[in-house]
Amino acid sequence: MIKIGALVSGGGTNLQAIIDNINEGKIDGKIVTVVSNKANAYALERAAKYNIEGTVIKVKDYPDRKAYSQALIDHFKEKQVDLILLAGFMVILDPVFTETFPNMIMNIHPALIPSFCGEGFYGLHVHEAALEKGVKVTGATVHFVDGKADNGPIILQKAVEVRDNDTPEILQKRVMEEAEWKIFPEAVSLFAQGRLKVEGTKVIRLTL
Ligand code: GAR
Repeated sequence: MIKIGALVSGGGTNLQAIIDNINEGKIDGKIVTVVSNKANAYALERAAKYNIEGTVIKVKDYPDRKAYSQALIDHFKEKQVDLILLAGFMVILDPVFTETFPNMIMNIHPALIPSFCGEGFYGLHVHEAALEKGVKVTGATVHFVDGKADNGPIILQKAVEVRDNDTPEILQKRVMEEAEWKIFPEAVSLFAQGRLKVEGTKVIRLTL
């Protein structure tokens, strides 16, 4: 059973999907810590409901991003996590964080990378950009995190249809329901089974 740590900033619906899949026996893992950069993140309440320990580590309590990232490293090392999930985490971390946990950090992004990703593309902004461009298909991506925003090896992707009358909010909900809440737990499950192998910039999914 793997030990999972999660970083969150907001509502935590993706965290909920992971919790549900663990409780249904679909992921051989346990969430040992949930860390939020915001004290009022609803994700912390979700964790508390399942007696999962929640911790608030705020950016403004540290002199710079490197010191903040180091505080997170210390926390996750103390908890001895095997995998760290960025489950709606809206802070860009210093490369020291990704270098400390190579191929051990997973992010869920609400678009088909390499579209609508990188700095500034987070949350609802991603869906606003997709609608502005007029794409007919969008989706979600789970990837390992490296030193650059939304850049690491892609693990899973799922496409979602864009409809003519979509608003960013409606599209966000469809992408979450049809893609994010499915592929994020699936990727964690594959990781827990030791079925993800990183070769260069690509992920190979092993069949056991
Ligand atoms: C999700 O749509 C997630 O993909 C996105 O923020 C939302 C968080 O929702 N993440 C990013 O944009 C990261 N770049 P949640 O808190 O309900 O899981």
